Amino acid sequence: MTASAPTTIRVALGERSYDVVIGEGLFDQAAALARPVLGRPMVFQVTDEHVAALHADRLDAALARGGITTARRIVVPAGEASKSFDQLGRLLDALIEAGCERNDTIVALGGGVIGDLAGFAAAIMRRGVAYIQVPTTLLAQVDSSVGGKTAVDSPRGKNLIGAFHQPRLVLADIDTLATLPARELRAGYAEVVKYGLLGDAAFFAWLESNGADALAGDTAARRHMVATSCGAKARIVAADERETGKRALLNLGHTFGHALETAAGHGDALPHGEAVAIGMVLAFTLSARLGLAPAEDAARVVRHLTAAGLPTTMAGAARDGWTGQRLAAIIAQDKKVRDGRPTLVLARGIGRAFLSRDVSLERIAVFLDDELAAVRTADTRP
Ligand code: NAD
Ligand code: GLY
Repeated sequence: MTASAPTTIRVALGERSYDVVIGEGLFDQAAALARPVLGRPMVFQVTDEHVAALHADRLDAALARGGITTARRIVVPAGEASKSFDQLGRLLDALIEAGCERNDTIVALGGGVIGDLAGFAAAIMRRGVAYIQVPTTLLAQVDSSVGGKTAVDSPRGKNLIGAFHQPRLVLADIDTLATLPARELRAGYAEVVKYGLLGDAAFFAWLESNGADALAGDTAARRHMVATSCGAKARIVAADERETGKRALLNLGHTFGHALETAAGHGDALPHGEAVAIGMVLAFTLSARLGLAPAEDAARVVRHLTAAGLPTTMAGAARDGWTGQRLAAIIAQDKKVRDGRPTLVLARGIGRAFLSRDVSLERIAVFLDDELAAVRTADTRP
């Protein structure tokens, strides 16, 4: 069966503009799509051990058929721990040893960890080399591969060391999602829902009707979901590349979510996407509580995320004895706190998110205490 023509979305950033190409069987077209952005017909591939075993040979073979050599494949351990200064140093050494020159191109094949790590290596290698994102998780296809944020983690916090460095091309092959574990797929789906909630009520309604098919593997639904998400992100990044304003809307659910991730110890107990799902519910519930959004919209968010198999309450934090004040103390450390007030993403309804600095940390603590109490009451009901 011949795959249909891919969908192309342009990220319009002047001389740093690039295409996000989305489709099935895209590896077969990778050489033709990549060649115009390469200095010479050679790439240096960075991937992780899971993706190396599943997809890397296929990509190399497809590139080779189109006359592009993979000069070196560098495989790092899978997982967030690879976004470290140590791993970055080893990666840079390996690239230099492999002969990666100023005009060469790195291919980041993998999820957000690989995109962030390889993208940052590209940003600082020989004062900046080109890179191509080939995202293989849903999260990376709809979010991290687009927009040029690259980073490694510091022991003092996630993504604290990084750079803005836009890729030359993003190739999102929907077929790679077939091997993604279900929990990773759902984590990425939370970010998809985010685009509907923050600025596109019609897309949210589409997800209510078609999200289950997309999660179950329907190819057309998957492509539509990825393309709509990338289109939204491309518009936001084009309007505010360095996050001086509107790009912060992409943090919907993230301020609460990060606090819950920190409370849960940044492990498997509460993966990022699940924390974002709970965070989005909290953002909508708070918006409704403040009289900004209809309560029915908050209920719709809960219903849809629940149907997608994502958590919607702070059950874990409640069980672990967290209080609103302790969670608010984590929020107080957020990069976006000014004069003791965090920048929250709130909503006037589905598809109508906005940035607010009007809610004090004290008010947030009271709200979170109310929500924790509600979960505890539900937990103890016979
Ligand atoms: P990840 O890269 O760790 O991938 C998750 C897991 O899936 C890994 O074990 C990986 O090996 C595996 N995997 C990847 N593709 C696979 C496939 N096709 N089949 C089977 N297994 C596969 O995690 P992620 O969720 O993709 O990304 C999370 C990272 O992204 C975080 O570090 C976060 O900070 C970053 N992020 C960055 C941005 C940005 O704008 N740069 C935005 C959001 C998130
Ligand atoms: N994931 C948030 C951003 O790219 O700005």
